[in-house]
Parts: sequence; structure tokens; C-alpha cells
Amino acid sequence: MHPILCLVAAAAGPVFALTIQSAGSNACLNLTSSLGFSRVATSQLDPEYISSRGDYWNVRQSVYAPSCVVHPESPQDVSVAIQAIRAADSRFAVKAAGHNTNNFFSSVDGGVLIDLSSMTAKSYDSATTLATYEPGSNWGQLYEYYQQYGRTVMGGRLSGVGTGLALGGGLSYLSPQYGIACDSFRELEVVLPNGSIVTASSTSNPDLFFAMRGGGGNAYGVVTKYTVQSRAIGNFYAGNIVWLFQQKDTVLEAIRDFIAYNTDPKASILPTYEKLTTPDLNLNLDELITMFLVYDGEDPGTAFDNFTRIPHIIDTRSIKTYKEVADMPVPFTAELTRADNVFRSGVHRIEDDSYNVLLETWREWAETHKASYIHTGFYMYPVPRSLTDGSHAQGGDAMQLPDGPWYWTAYDLATPPGLPNAAYNAIQESFREMVESTPNAPGLPLFLNEAAWDQDPLATFSSFETLKQIKNKYDPDGFFATRTGGWSFD
Ligand SMILES: Cc1cc2nc3c(=O)[nH]c(=O)nc-3n(C[C@H](O)[C@H](O)[C@H](O)COP(=O)(O)OP(=O)(O)OC[C@H]3O[C@@H](n4cnc5c(N)ncnc54)[C@H](O)[C@@H]3O)c2cc1C
Ligand SMILES: *[C@@H]1O[C@H](CO)[C@@H](O)[C@H](O)[C@H]1NC(C)=O
Ligand SMILES: *[C@@H]1O[C@H](CO)[C@@H](O)[C@H](O)[C@H]1NC(C)=O
Ligand SMILES: *[C@@H]1O[C@H](CO)[C@@H](O)[C@H](O)[C@H]1NC(C)=O
Repeated sequence: MHPILCLVAAAAGPVFALTIQSAGSNACLNLTSSLGFSRVATSQLDPEYISSRGDYWNVRQSVYAPSCVVHPESPQDVSVAIQAIRAADSRFAVKAAGHNTNNFFSSVDGGVLIDLSSMTAKSYDSATTLATYEPGSNWGQLYEYYQQYGRTVMGGRLSGVGTGLALGGGLSYLSPQYGIACDSFRELEVVLPNGSIVTASSTSNPDLFFAMRGGGGNAYGVVTKYTVQSRAIGNFYAGNIVWLFQQKDTVLEAIRDFIAYNTDPKASILPTYEKLTTPDLNLNLDELITMFLVYDGEDPGTAFDNFTRIPHIIDTRSIKTYKEVADMPVPFTAELTRADNVFRSGVHRIEDDSYNVLLETWREWAETHKASYIHTGFYMYPVPRSLTDGSHAQGGDAMQLPDGPWYWTAYDLATPPGLPNAAYNAIQESFREMVESTPNAPGLPLFLNEAAWDQDPLATFSSFETLKQIKNKYDPDGFFATRTGGWSFD
């Protein structure tokens, strides 16, 4: 038996483990006969299997060994896979670019991994200005493609992240102008939990469309094609400013002022406070503040002056294409650190002055636990009034964003790969307590995309009861609810 299955067997009893394994194997056997070996990798030595299993931002997911990896090439393939998994009563996971950090959201142990990365068709229609894309590209690939038309689609701030981001809302540098990514959805092609292929839009299955706009992936079905409103772009004025931590409070006040006072929706910031475990050549580089400044246009006016006038050690501002913005070379930042990564998230109002407490609480924890991690970051995501107006103007979404300004926080923790469970769980619990020690602002939704599995973000949505009903309608026998990971609807 494979060592991982031995671990499962030890934890849960041998009969249970063998049941998982044989249900997965049965589904895979069926799929190799219906889809063929080119689309189904059953051997752990197959390069397709190795790359699907190995490519997770939280590398702890790579420990899990699916019974096979399916690479569908069409919605029909996805439908066949879902029906075979159902017939075998196997577990499964749906994976786009594998950046979600939570166990079993896009990974599976002893079941079927549906890896969407072969579905990469994309198009642009200049008559309607609508764009379509299948789920298998990452944002960098999509931005590069649409750039030739002087357009882009609403997606992540870093190239490597995948399209699952938009199902969880999706914060973009362009969000202050156009709302979160899912607000730009116009039509989705969806394979339902019963294998039917349907269209979700404001006129076709509108309840499903509502839920899939920010209500999270792997709950209501599998999206096989997105049709979205594209956005006009030209060049950007963008770069990273890096400060030493001695400027942390000055920078924090400037962030606060930006959240409270900035009125130019073309100006976006992504502030990141970062701590690394090792002192870097005694240059005080074990802690840094990296600010992403991004302006949609070549002239930002005075929008960023409150940041740029604070003495800094690195400044990479220049005119960039949107793809270059998403690729910004950022020393020490998260995307580069593939490790046992987790996210946790928070939400706050600027008036309650909790921002000082949040930064200090995280930094003190990071100091105290320095030996336990490779990297930890504290991030603040402004949600200005223009963003929430832009969201509401497009019909609203599952998040039902209350009027800005307010802000999301996110925290990441990268621990060394392969920590024993006891040590891993202890550091996670301590990190959780640190984040939970400052209460969230009531009445605001958590940032689902970077919430930890135990944070129950859907319960913070004002639409939660509606989402539950929609979930029950489209997944009536709880097939997705019990056979793949994801957010709780209880
Ligand atoms: C370095 C980094 C940068 C990030 N930057 C941003 C950012 O700028 N803005 C932001 O909003 N978030 C950001 N995130 C968070 C990100 O949105 C989430 O991690 C998101 O879940 C990643 O989507 P994915 O497709 O890469 O991952 P996956 O783990 O493959 O998918 C995420 C979830 O969606 C489900 N899913 C994916 N595709 C489908 C589909 N077609 N149909 C049904 N379910 C599906 C999966 O089952 C899984 O549960 C970032 C994360 C990282 C690690
Ligand atoms: C094989 O999968 C198909 C769906 O493609 C399903 O209808 C059938 O019942 C499955 N067969 C078995 C033996 O599970
Ligand atoms: C810069 O900060 C000042 C307060 O110090 C504030 O009045 C002003 O609006 C800020 N400018 C911008 C563009 O955020
Ligand atoms: C699949 O589920 C949808 C939504 O619940 C339903 O309308 C449809 O009739 C179902 N299809 C089949 C073949 O059962």
C-alpha cells in the first residue's frame, strides 16, 4: 500500500481507507475506458500526474495522492467525469491553478483529481466587447492574450493565480473602477453535480448565476467557460516601493489616509508587511514593507505622493503593460515562496482605528515565533466606495458588498515543508489565535478567497440563507457537499 494510504488507514481504520481507494480506482478505471489514457493519468510516475499533484501554492496539498488525474478537454469530458465519480461514489477535487491553501478544496487523497489546466480556449468579440475563456489559464496568460486587443479581464493581481479566484469574488487592481472580478461575469457554462451542462446568466438559471458570483468554487457545479465584460486598458504606471520597518507606522498612516481619502478609482495599492525567518546579511532585510502601486494610465497625478515621499530603499515605478504589472518582480513576496502556506483573513472599518492594533499584534506574533516559519505577511486591501458602487451597478453578487470605504486584511504563514502534524498544528493554532484576537467588524463579509477553512466566510455574507437554498437546489443529494472539500453551508 502507498505510504499515504497507510497513514490514512492508521488514522481512520483499514476498511475505510480501502473503500476510499477502491471507489477512486473504480471511477478511474471507468474514466480510462471512456476518456482514454491521454486524458486520464493513473500512474504516480506519469509526468501529467506528477505536475498536477506537485503544483500547489500550499505544497502540503502535494502529499495527497489522487487515484488518478483527469485532464478534461471539453464540458462533455467534465460531465462524464462527474457522472463516473458519482457512479463509483468516489471522492474528487476540481483544480484550476491550485492556489487555494485549504485542504481538499482543490486536492484529493485516493479519489479523482479533475485538473482543468488543459481547457485554455479564449476569445474576444470586438462587436460586443465580451471576452470568453475556459478555466485552465492563469491570469498572466489571460492578460497577455487580451492585451493585443487593448483589453483585459478582471482577475488576480499576480500572474500565477488561477481562475478559481473569480468564483470567490476576486480582487483586482481594477476593482476600484469595476467592482470585484465576478461582477464582470455575464454568462457561465456550468456542469452541475448531476452532470447536466447548463448556462447561468441573469436570464438563465439566475439563482445559480447569483451564487457563482463570489459564492465560492466547488459548491454548485464546475464552470467550463466564462463570458465576461472585458475592460479597456492602455499602459499602466506601476511599481513596488520597499521600506525598512522603521517606517512601518508612517506607512500605515499613509495607507489609512489612502483608504479614507483617495478619490481616484484608477489608483490601486496593495500594501504588504513581510517577515522572513532569517536575518539577511544583517541588512535588516528580515522584515520589509513592500507596497504595490498601480495606476491605470501613465500619469498618476498626486495619487501616490503620500507613499513615495516616505524614504524608501527600492523603487521600481515605471510605465508597464498590464501583464508586466501582474509580473512585478517583488523581492521576498509570497508568490515566490512555495511552502506549506496558509491564509487567514479579516475585515475592518477604517473608523474603528483597529489598524494599529492589527499590525502590532501580527508583528509581535511574528517576532515571538521567528523560529517557526519561513515567511509571514500582513496585507491590507482597501474596499473604496467606488468599488462597491461598481459592484452594485452590475447587478450585485453573492457577497452583497456593503458601501465602502472599509478594508479586508489577509495574513499568510509559510512553514517549512513536511513539519510533523503536531508541530504543524501547534503553529497553525497559535497563528489562528493571533488573527482572531482582534474581532472583525460586524456586518461586513470576510474575504472568502483568502479565508482559512475554519473561518466560515459564507456565514458572514448577508446572502447566506439564499446561498444555502441555491446549494440545496443544485446539489440536492449533497454529492459535492460530501465528496469534495469546500465551504460549509451548515
Ligand atoms: C500568491 C497569491 C496571490 C493571490 N492574489 C489574489 C488577488 O489578487 N485577488 C484575489 O481575489 N485573490 C488572490 N489570491 C487568493 C486566490 O483568489 C485563491 O487562492 C483562489 O482560490 C485561487 O484560485 P486558483 O484557481 O488558483 O486555485 P484552485 O485551488 O485551483 O481553485 C480554488 C477553488 O475554486 C474551485 N474551482 C476552481 N476552478 C473551478 C471551476 N472552474 N469550477 C468550479 N470550481 C472551481 C476549486 O475547486 C477550489 O476550491 C491569491 C492567492 C495567492 C496564493
Ligand atoms: C461509468 O461512467 C458512466 C458515466 O460516464 C456511468 O454512467 C456508469 O454508470 C459508470 N459505470 C460504472 C460501472 O460505474
Ligand atoms: C494624503 O494624506 C493627507 C493627510 O495627511 C490627506 O489629506 C490626503 O487626502 C492624502 N492624499 C491622498 C491622495 O490620499
Ligand atoms: C440536474 O439538476 C438540475 C438542477 O437541479 C435539474 O433542473 C435537472 O433536471 C437535472 N437533470 C437531470 C438529468 O436529472
